[in-house]
Amino acid sequence: MKDLAGRIAVITGGGTGMGRELARQLVAEGCSIAMCDISAANMAETKRLCEADRLPQGLRITTHIADVANEDDVKRFAGEVARDHDTDKIHLLFNNAGIGGGGSMIVHSREEWERTFNICWGGVYYGTRAFLPMLLKADRGHIVNTSSVNGFWASVGPSIPHTAYSAAKFAVKGFTEALQTDLRLNAPHIKCSVVMPGHIGTSIVSNSRKIQAGTQADTMTAHEIAQMRARIASMGVDASKLSDEEIVRRATDRARKFLDEAPTTAAQAARIILDGVKAERWRILVGHDAEVIDQRVRAAPEQAYELDFFQGIAKDVGWKLGN
Ligand SMILES: NC(=O)c1ccc[n+]([C@@H]2O[C@H](COP(=O)([O-])OP(=O)(O)OC[C@H]3O[C@@H](n4cnc5c(N)ncnc54)[C@H](O)[C@@H]3O)[C@@H](O)[C@H]2O)c1
Repeated sequence: MKDLAGRIAVITGGGTGMGRELARQLVAEGCSIAMCDISAANMAETKRLCEADRLPQGLRITTHIADVANEDDVKRFAGEVARDHDTDKIHLLFNNAGIGGGGSMIVHSREEWERTFNICWGGVYYGTRAFLPMLLKADRGHIVNTSSVNGFWASVGPSIPHTAYSAAKFAVKGFTEALQTDLRLNAPHIKCSVVMPGHIGTSIVSNSRKIQAGTQADTMTAHEIAQMRARIASMGVDASKLSDEEIVRRATDRARKFLDEAPTTAAQAARIILDGVKAERWRILVGHDAEVIDQRVRAAPEQAYELDFFQGIAKDVGWKLGN
């Protein structure tokens, strides 16, 4: 889909990060937007930014509260899009919402593990199910599913377990790859792409913490402090000697660094994604780090979870992740 003007785009997780930047750039290209999120305040800010960027005439930007892990919410969202945009079709679907957490099968609760998995995988699956009828009715359509480098490399380093997120992101990648053939055979006017970002500067660390804790508050609960202490200890630091205040400071610092010290900004990521959609590329790697990891995992898959492999990547792409 080379020309996006006049199209209707649905974005899940439009409240911050890449979802917000996709909304802004799509509006600038002349698309109407329907976004969902669990944060009304963040969506209101995205909408304000879209309008401040000068809204082309006749475009609609609508916001909808929906938890993508809940199929009833996603179905209601699709119904609201039809009603508020006065249409039975959409052209672009960005299944973008996602969170981290639930890294360990042993240390973390089943509830936390499944919250991450159900948002990252369930959100893509329910989103595709709910909006497929509206894509089928359009003259052309494009489904854009956000996976991650963790969709082909299940690691953020050898000292941090990362099971729920990786399992979900592998599922998103596998599903989207299999959709290539399904769509080609059964709905050739619809394309789809899997997006695999490296480290992108967003608030995903602080947002994930809040969503897992079920709060919008910036203060950490005793349970979260204990979890952060265990994470720091897993990295070889004697965390028992650290005060609660020090643990909170390190957690805040980690979220800030994730946002500020990333090699790629959310706006740059959105540009790469939209360029990929226009070029109808089915695999969209986002960032130099993602490209390097893709090549290295293919070149030496047996080495992918060894310390040397991670250190080589971190050094060569300039990652400053960790604690
Ligand atoms: N930032 C990165 O480095 C990175 C790397 C690879 C992949 N990703 C993926 O990119 C996507 C966008 O993440 P981001 O980095 O822009 O993060 P972000 O936290 O800035 O944005 C994600 C948005 O999704 C929303 N959201 C979370 N759970 C939701 C739910 N259950 N229902 C509805 N909305 C929900 C959040 O409120 C937030 O507004 C995610 O799927 C993430 O896993 C991010």
